[in-house]
Amino acid sequence: MLMNTNRIGNQLIKLNVVDSTNNYAAKYLKQTKIPFGTVIMAQYQTDGKGQVDSVWNANKSDNILMSVILDTSFLSVNRIFYLSKIVSLSIHESLNSFDIGNVFIKWPNDIFVNKDKIAGILIENQWKGQSLISSIVGIGINVNQTVFPESYNATSLKLLKSKTYSLDEVLEKIIVRMNYNFSILKNLSFEKIDSDYHKYLLNYNKVTDFFIKNKVVKAKLFGVNSLGKIVLKINNNELKCYDLKQVKQII
Ligand code: BTN
Repeated sequence: MLMNTNRIGNQLIKLNVVDSTNNYAAKYLKQTKIPFGTVIMAQYQTDGKGQVDSVWNANKSDNILMSVILDTSFLSVNRIFYLSKIVSLSIHESLNSFDIGNVFIKWPNDIFVNKDKIAGILIENQWKGQSLISSIVGIGINVNQTVFPESYNATSLKLLKSKTYSLDEVLEKIIVRMNYNFSILKNLSFEKIDSDYHKYLLNYNKVTDFFIKNKVVKAKLFGVNSLGKIVLKINNNELKCYDLKQVKQII
């Protein structure tokens, strides 16, 4: 009998050192018929990538550095950010189960505890013409690292709980939540995803400070739309959508 090979985590590739698990996944996806759901994990990345051309540095063997290859061909381009929403939710739910206090999602898809970042997501999509064919979901979670560059505002499970965690235990939780939330996405249950994502979104429905066009402005956060833009109301003006290059949320 054929196993459900598309289940996330059915195939797990563990690497010692790699440039970036996302790059490895991309090469692998091009060269072979890799089953969707494959997870690639590394102990260390020499060229870890972050969002908007930043780097993702993480000490060897201390953290979760993983990429998941997903079949996202069912997802229409105008709903593309729902993938990001379910990945944020999966990490949020997994970390929340460690009882580390106030875990929240900071738009668009960073996971914070209090004022510090604990996890980040980098999704790279593959296209055929205008259609999405697959996605590589890169996830970095600070687990047992306790020293970070000062400018990072980072935290980790170990810093928060003063104990060392098994990376396999954290990985297992992520895989379970990813399978659950990805099945909700495949069912196209966008309302449920939206309601869960916004529940944990930092400052949802609140008036707080944003940095827009070199100025600090007060705005009410109305939500994040299906393309990942943040929807804000400044003063009593109409709602406006902004992307990551146009606005920075101040926490
Ligand atoms: C960010 O918040 O800037 C996104 C960070 C994503 C880091 C992960 S670590 C595993 C995967 N491989 C990479 O090169 N980046 C992602």
